[in-house]
Amino acid sequence: MKKVFLETFGCQMNVSDSERVATDLAAKGFEITADQDSADIILLNTCSVREKAEHKLYTRVGQIRHTAVKKPMIGVMGCVAQLEGETLFKKISGVDLVIGTRAVGRVSDAIARVLEDGPGHADLGEREFDYDWNVADAHRHSPYVAFVPIIEGCNKFCTYCIVPFSRGRERSLPATEIVRTVLELRRQGVKEVHLIGQNVNSYRPETRSGLEGFAGATPFSKLLRAVAATDVERIKFNTSFPRDFHPDIVDAINEHENLCNWVHLPVQSGSNRVLKAMRRLHTIESYMSKIDKLKASKRDISITTDIIVGFPGETEADFEDTKHLVEYCGYDSAYIFRYSPRPGTPAFEMVDDVSLEEKTRRFRELEDLQRSLQANNLQRYHNRSLEVLAEKRSVKTEEHLSGHSTCHKVVNFAGSSDMLGRIVNVKITEIKSNSLFGVAA
Ligand code: SAH
Ligand code: SF4
Ligand code: F3S
Repeated sequence: MKKVFLETFGCQMNVSDSERVATDLAAKGFEITADQDSADIILLNTCSVREKAEHKLYTRVGQIRHTAVKKPMIGVMGCVAQLEGETLFKKISGVDLVIGTRAVGRVSDAIARVLEDGPGHADLGEREFDYDWNVADAHRHSPYVAFVPIIEGCNKFCTYCIVPFSRGRERSLPATEIVRTVLELRRQGVKEVHLIGQNVNSYRPETRSGLEGFAGATPFSKLLRAVAATDVERIKFNTSFPRDFHPDIVDAINEHENLCNWVHLPVQSGSNRVLKAMRRLHTIESYMSKIDKLKASKRDISITTDIIVGFPGETEADFEDTKHLVEYCGYDSAYIFRYSPRPGTPAFEMVDDVSLEEKTRRFRELEDLQRSLQANNLQRYHNRSLEVLAEKRSVKTEEHLSGHSTCHKVVNFAGSSDMLGRIVNVKITEIKSNSLFGVAA
């Protein structure tokens, strides 16, 4: 029995693909191992969203080649694989197999080809949509939390972004299939499902969607109501694309307790000039009106975002606008990135005129600002009781458990092991920089 070690970089889509690949390989007689040294096959599921992410692949292949006791087969999956294709064989010595983002259903065939014919096989073909999407619980990243892709790919072509090239065009899964999957996960004891996609709220299934009879202003808000009706305990969704963030999504959250009070809405910049150059298709004004709608909800919705600093042409004044926007929105957290030019994207042709030094200064300044605003914002949870899904024992101490609140905060708390897998009330006693601490009631 061949042993496979699977390592995943990048976003939840990659995590989800890896789970499906592990499930499929296990069903075909491979053993999935967590021990790299005993593996016959190592699969690296890669990300190329920023240069640093892509670099991890090069570093990891080198490490494996130097430390491996037996010489494992090395396969590259994911976004770098899709973009680079066969050139990877030349670029990195030691790669035996390349599997694109659309070929995740055929990994076992690809491995078989290399076992028979030797290294050098690449599969960048189209996705077959008839393979089983269900993920066996042994191969999910958590027994209690499950990722359910609802839309794959991206049609937005923001000028800085490689994802539309690495993931292809948007394709929405039929709602009937999504609801069936959620019901099955609920039966298996999953407490929290994440509906995932590059832009979940651009969800647009083809005709006969299975959403007839559900109220909603858009197919996505219809889908939210349909999934809420499964009665699974918690539903989260991300990422939301600001232009397609219809106010009815907030109405759905207000109506259904099991739709969680957390929205990730990446703004990228607080300057209309930069947003236009990024081709984000929203303005600061339209974005702020969505924030206002979210803040008007009775549910205390936690809002998080992504921001890029140092996009080509970003001036000090543009950066100041971003700081003002961050102050206005009061995010519970923000992922801040230094702009990284990606070959093949339209922005790659623009002059990358903000120096690395300046990008780093803006990055630090914005991080400091966000950190201090966040410390203030998070005070609202102090002494409050939050519902927390007890997901695992804390890495630091035996007596503590760790999980997420409905508003998707990491909460560490004093509790007992029998709470694992349950939703418990935790009284928040301490606000840390990126998490909360409390005691189970
Ligand atoms: N679909 C999501 C984002 C997916 S990529 C959306 O549109 O919001 C995740 C984040 O990586 C982006 O929100 C952006 O902030 C960042 N990112 C993408 N390309 C980047 C680049 N070339 N340089 C720096 N950050 C980038
Ligand atoms: Fe990239 Fe824009 Fe698509 Fe998000 S919406 S994945 S940032 S192109
Ligand atoms: Fe990275 Fe690909 Fe996701 S580039 S962020 S793994 S879609």
